[in-house]
Amino acid sequence: MSQTILIDHPLIQHKLTLIRDKNTGPKEFRELVDEVSTLMVYEVTRDLSLEEVEVETPICKGKFKMIKGKKLGIVPILRAGLGMLNGVLQLIPTAKVGHVGLYRDPETLKPVEYYCKLPTDIQDRDLLVVDPMLATGGSASAAINFVKERDPRNIKLVVLIAAPEGIEKLQKEHPDVDIYTAAIDQKLNDHAYIVPGLGDAGDRLYGTK
Ligand code: PRP
Ligand code: URA
Repeated sequence: MSQTILIDHPLIQHKLTLIRDKNTGPKEFRELVDEVSTLMVYEVTRDLSLEEVEVETPICKGKFKMIKGKKLGIVPILRAGLGMLNGVLQLIPTAKVGHVGLYRDPETLKPVEYYCKLPTDIQDRDLLVVDPMLATGGSASAAINFVKERDPRNIKLVVLIAAPEGIEKLQKEHPDVDIYTAAIDQKLNDHAYIVPGLGDAGDRLYGTK
């Protein structure tokens, strides 16, 4: 069974409240999503493996720790996942980036795929799949199905807000994928939007509504 890790640092909670506020416009919304994504990475990467390397300081030689092996891969789910990408890259600038394009059909509420381009050496990397919203879980589950075809070492899902319904679906369909979230909200409404949530993440990031 996968774990759901709630990252509720006070700075993250404060910024997430501003993100939720309907009066926060796209510029500030983007900046805040960027900042929260960076803060979350600190916790998401806590279990990265280290190795000892020899470095000479101005005083003497010594053995010190560095992150072992190839750096992470980041897979934003288009389009709203792009809003989290730069924030993650701030802390892991050498990560490779794959893209999975999915949108949720407003009638069926099922994910529709339109793009997939992943790093070629995905087998040697741990992947972070990022998307601000885990609602029904359909989009995240489909995106993870895509990336699993390429056999990455490990996958973590990083979201800003998760609904209990989405967590349940992910745990059932991908019991090997841990979920990192800054909030677990109450429920989905009749249109499968998260309540209280933040509205439509893509529209708020890009001002399309
Ligand atoms: C949003 C969000 C997730 C998905 C979550 O994307 O960014 O990808 O909905 O819903 P689910 O868990 O029920 O699948 P949307 O489909 O609005 O597309 P967009 O990112 O292009 O705006
Ligand atoms: N997608 C969003 O952008 N917001 C929700 O609340 C649910 C799905």
